[in-house]
Amino acid sequence: MNLNKCNVIDLPRINDPRGNLTFVEGSQHIPFDIHRVYYLYDVPGGAERGGHAHKDLHQLIIAMSGSFDIHLDDGHTKKTVHLNRSYQGLYVCPMIWRDIDNFSSGAVCMVLASERYDELDYYRDYEQFIIDAQRNTK
Ligand code: TYD
Repeated sequence: MNLNKCNVIDLPRINDPRGNLTFVEGSQHIPFDIHRVYYLYDVPGGAERGGHAHKDLHQLIIAMSGSFDIHLDDGHTKKTVHLNRSYQGLYVCPMIWRDIDNFSSGAVCMVLASERYDELDYYRDYEQFIIDAQRNTK
C-alpha cells in the first residue's frame, strides 16, 4: 500500500536557548532531492487546500507555524495526520490524494517537492485518480 510509505519524519533539531534550528538535506533526511519549495499562508478559517494527487511527485509537508490536518488516500486506505511541529514533516509519495484543512490561525504550510511545478503531473479529478490508483495496485 502506498499509504504505508507516508510517514511523519523527525527532522534534525539543534536546540539552543537562543532559539531552535532545524535543517533538511535532500536525499539525506528525506527520500528525494529538493527541486522546489512552496508554502501556503494567510489561509482563511475553514478553508481547504490540496484536493489533488500527483503521478510522480514526492513531497514533504511541514507545519512551519501553527497546525493543520492532512487527509491522505491511496485509493484503498485513508488516514489523517495532524501536523503542528516545525521539526516534523509528513512524507507524501506519488499517487496519494490529499486534502488539507483545519488550519489554525497564522498557520504556514511549507512543502518541499522533488520536481518543479508541472500541471501534467496532477490528478485533479478524484474519480480518475481512484481508477488509476486501484488499477496500479491490485
Ligand atoms: P495547487 O497545487 O492546486 O494548490 P494546493 O494544493 O496547495 O491547494 O496550486 C494552486 C495554484 O497555484 C494552481 O493554479 C497552480 C499554482 N502553482 C504554481 O504555479 N506553482 C506551484 O509550485 C504550485 C504548488 C502551484
